[in-house]
Amino acid sequence: MSRKPIIAGNWKMNKLQSEAKELFLGIAYFAERFTKEQLPTIVLAPTFTSLAAVESMRCDKCRPLVAIAAQNCNWEKSGAYTGEISVDMIKDAGCEYIIIGHSERRQHFLETDEMINKKAKAILEGGLIPIICCGETLEQREAGITDSHIASQIKAALAGLTEEEISKSVIAYEPIWAIGTGKTCDADEANRVIAMIRNVIKDLSSIAAGDAIRILYGGSVTPSSIEEQMSKSDIDGALVGGASLKIDSFSEIIANTMKVTVK
Ligand code: 13P
Repeated sequence: MSRKPIIAGNWKMNKLQSEAKELFLGIAYFAERFTKEQLPTIVLAPTFTSLAAVESMRCDKCRPLVAIAAQNCNWEKSGAYTGEISVDMIKDAGCEYIIIGHSERRQHFLETDEMINKKAKAILEGGLIPIICCGETLEQREAGITDSHIASQIKAALAGLTEEEISKSVIAYEPIWAIGTGKTCDADEANRVIAMIRNVIKDLSSIAAGDAIRILYGGSVTPSSIEEQMSKSDIDGALVGGASLKIDSFSEIIANTMKVTVK
């Protein structure tokens, strides 16, 4: 079983257009030193307002090496939904991936499992790939309900999807207490939870889907943490926040990922 690693940068609500272009170009310049086969799948998620600016910087050489993503979407196709952006619009802007269900969206914008499921379906129907986030709070971890909470988030997000749709989706396990805190989850523990997620998917869909789906870790990932994380059996990459906002640290995360043998 070989799962190509993914290193994704979630820029969150950061970077004006000129800064986003500069960051993209720095990462693209780094990536162009390698072949597509050598590199992990690289995905960058700028804000909606910077997507067009970043897309305009994607040349023929870097386009296949660096994909772009949106950080959210609406499940409706079009219409009277002021402030919302559809999957078709995101595709039209050049994106191949859409991050959904990030804990910041669940917490601050009251996104529910049901909404995340509708988004996942709309994204896959539109021909893009969802990066579906899940994760527990510190209280849930301390109460010993991490696994049951994550399993229920995963089952709800993937409800009604076909085996093929699940196989091409991406999951990001991001313990909330590890996001932006500098408190990286222990790599063995992150691997244990991710293996548990894979088993949930095997039960829900098929063994093949559980083996194929790529599951990332997110939460205070740095150039020095990634190598150990990538050496674990079930961690297929990272969803990076803070360290994705600088050319040097994100490039180093990519470089260190390439040191670890593909699973
Ligand atoms: P940090 O890497 O800043 O902890 O953020 C993780 C994250 O939320 C990525 O989506």
